[in-house]
Parts: sequence; C-alpha cells; structure tokens
Amino acid sequence: MILRTFSLSKFFDGLKALDRVNIEVEEGKITLVIGPNGSGKTTLINVITGFYKADEGKVEYKGEDITNKPPHELYRRGIVRTFQIPKPLKKLTVLENLLIARENPGEGIVGALTKAYIPKEKESVMKAFEILEFLGIEHLWDEEAQNLSGGQLRLVEIGRALMSDADLFVMDEPLA
Ligand SMILES: Nc1ncnc2c1ncn2[C@@H]1O[C@H](COP(=O)(O)OP(=O)(O)O)[C@@H](O)[C@H]1O
Ligand SMILES: [Mg+2]
Repeated sequence: MILRTFSLSKFFDGLKALDRVNIEVEEGKITLVIGPNGSGKTTLINVITGFYKADEGKVEYKGEDITNKPPHELYRRGIVRTFQIPKPLKKLTVLENLLIARENPGEGIVGALTKAYIPKEKESVMKAFEILEFLGIEHLWDEEAQNLSGGQLRLVEIGRALMSDADLFVMDEPLA
C-alpha cells in the first residue's frame, strides 16, 4: 500500500466530518472515494495532504507516519494534490500555468543563472505539451487561464499536478 489511514478523525466544533476513517490505496492503482455532498471527501484530502490537522488517527505513506506533516514536506516526499475549486493564475497561459507548477530545476538565483537551466526548461516545455495532448487541451496552450471554461480549468489543474514527479496524486472531484 502506498497510502493508508488508520481511524482518522476530524471534528469541526461538534461536527464529526471524519469519523475513524480507514482507507488503503494500492500502488499503481486508482482508488476512488465516493459520497454525497458534505460527506467529508474534501476534508479527508485536506487531512491526508496536511492542509488540516487530524484530531485522531494516523496517515501512513510508503510505510512512514506522515500524520500532520505540512503540505510542502508532503510535496517533497512525492504527494501532490488538486483542489475542488481550481486555482490557476488567471493572467498566465495554459502552458505557463503548467510550467510554473513544476519544481524549478534551477531553484534559487545561482541555479537559475547556470546554463543547465536552459535544457531543463526545454524538457519542461516538452513534458507540458505531452500532458496537454494527453488531456486533450493542447490547442489551448497559449490561452489565458481566465478565458477557459470550468471543465477546461479542471483539466489544467490536473495537468499542473502531472507536471510534478509525484508518486501519489490526490485529486478532489477530478471527474467534475
Ligand atoms: N473548514 C471547515 N469548517 C467547518 N466545517 C467544515 C469545514 N470544512 C468542511 N466542513 C464540514 O465538514 C463536512 C464535510 O465537508 P466536505 O469535506 O467538504 O465534504 P465533501 O467534500 O464530501 O462534500 C460538512 O458538513 C462541511 O460543512
Ligand atoms: Mg468536496
């Protein structure tokens, strides 16, 4: 199992949004969580990915306890998430939104100024186009995000997640 939760709970004042949830996610598989509005799907994602703190229980990723670790640390360990409401940078194009989602290979000023950055950038552009093609929105590459439909924004959001080299993609309402 790449991900496991053990008796995971989250309370909002008197409300039990998560009540001792146990899930198992097998590596190389797609695991779906289904439930009506308000049943706690987004809360579960927020707790797993460190956006909310668990009130009880445990989250294990690759056999390690990652309960209540902050989102940036989980990202570094290979967990990436998408949001129920996509949050692209509206003035940037689709391609630019994908490019900025990738962990910058030449991070920091020194890295950015080294020549190694240029082939990396080319590689990132090629990766972005592969993903856009896969998602069927390649023709929109130069469109500003603010001009996209809700469904297209959702695909850009998924594209941004795919730009990372993550091992676990946690997606909120990917089928919406
Ligand atoms: N930040 C919050 N503060 C208070 N209540 C919340 C918060 N987030 C979610 N809830 C409540 O937790 C329950 C589960 O919500 P949510 O996880 O968004 O469900 P779903 O994603 O399945 O629609 C709902 O009753 C919702 O109102
Ligand atoms: Mg939700």
